[in-house]
Amino acid sequence: MQNIIVAPSILAADFSRLRDEIERVEDAGADWIHCDIMDGHFVDNISFGPEIVRVLRGLTSLPLDVHLMIEHPDHYVPRFVKAGANSITVHVEPEAKHDVSKTLAQIRDSGCRAGLTLNPETPFDLIEPFLHKIDILLIMTVHPGFGGQPFRADQMPKVKRARSLNDKIDIEVDGGINPGTAKLSIENGANVLVAGTSIFHSKDYAKAIRELRGE
Ligand code: DX5
Ligand code: ZN
Repeated sequence: MQNIIVAPSILAADFSRLRDEIERVEDAGADWIHCDIMDGHFVDNISFGPEIVRVLRGLTSLPLDVHLMIEHPDHYVPRFVKAGANSITVHVEPEAKHDVSKTLAQIRDSGCRAGLTLNPETPFDLIEPFLHKIDILLIMTVHPGFGGQPFRADQMPKVKRARSLNDKIDIEVDGGINPGTAKLSIENGANVLVAGTSIFHSKDYAKAIRELRGE
């Protein structure tokens, strides 16, 4: 059983105090920083780009876990590598408009960990051919684009199936993660928890992170 990794999503952080937020969440026991990149095409929202990831690189030594919810991610991989990403996760859906195998190889060849993710509406079969080419499988437990959405428990069979096929990779869940849904996700085989609202909208970040770990 892998250690549970908590990856706060800065999408829910107070961007007017980004340095403080990163220091606070790092002191509170965060393991990774999850960076939600949105282009307004693949998802119906726009967030931030490589420049903010470069700023974050200067604020923390924690691994930067970059989640690309964008079209043509292959075109942007070099910029996020240069900005200091430690892992880069791309979407498997055809709407992301890239050659998935080639992009995963491009990410690994750049020295970053390679992740693949799928939306709640996307069947698990779509990612099976790539399970041996990735370091991280990110199971979306909300439809991507916004924080603060309700958890989709119907995604748990995907977590369970992935864990039954591969007990080495990191299986990450993302969206609506709180102590209750974290417990359910871990029971099904997840070991990486992305949480935005349940951490950054709490009064005590350390308590929120402990509760996600089930402590
Ligand atoms: C949604 C993002 C998630 C989201 C999680 O598109 O991928 O990482 O920020 O936010 P919460 O934890 O608030 O659901
Ligand atoms: Zn995310």
